Amino acid sequence: MEDRELFLMAAAAAEKAYAPYSGFRVGAALLAKDGRVFTGVNVENASYGAGICAERTAAVKAVSEGCREFSALAVASPDGEAWPCGICRQFLYEFGDTLRVITGPDPEQLEARNITELLPKGFRL
Ligand code: THU
Repeated sequence: MEDRELFLMAAAAAEKAYAPYSGFRVGAALLAKDGRVFTGVNVENASYGAGICAERTAAVKAVSEGCREFSALAVASPDGEAWPCGICRQFLYEFGDTLRVITGPDPEQLEARNITELLPKGFRL
C-alpha cells in the first residue's frame, strides 16, 4: 500500500478522535504485514493522564485481534503535523525494529522515518 493511501486512512480516522481537552485530533493507520489496516484515534479523558494516543489505540486494536507484525504506520491530524510521542515510539518498537512511520501536514508533503530513527536504543527486556 502506498504511503499516501495509508495517510488518507489515518486522516479519515482522525475525524473520530475524542479530544475535547486539547482540541488536537489525531488519527493513525497501522498496516500489518498480512495487509490488514488497523486505525486508531486519540481518546482523552477528564482525568488527563488516562488519555491514549491514536498510535497506541491502533496498536492495541491490532494486537487484540491477534496481529503483531507491522510494516508501516501513518499518523495524521487536521490540527497540525504529528510525529508519535515517546511513549508511542517505545510501544511500537516492542513489535519490531523495521516499522516505517509516515506523517506530514498533508498527503502531498509526507515524510517517513524508521522506528529506530525515531527511537534510537529503544528498551528491550
Ligand atoms: N497525540 C496523539 O494521539 N498522537 C500523537 O502523535 C501526538 C499526540 C494526542 C495526545 C493528546 O490527546 C493530544 O494529541 C494532544 O497532545
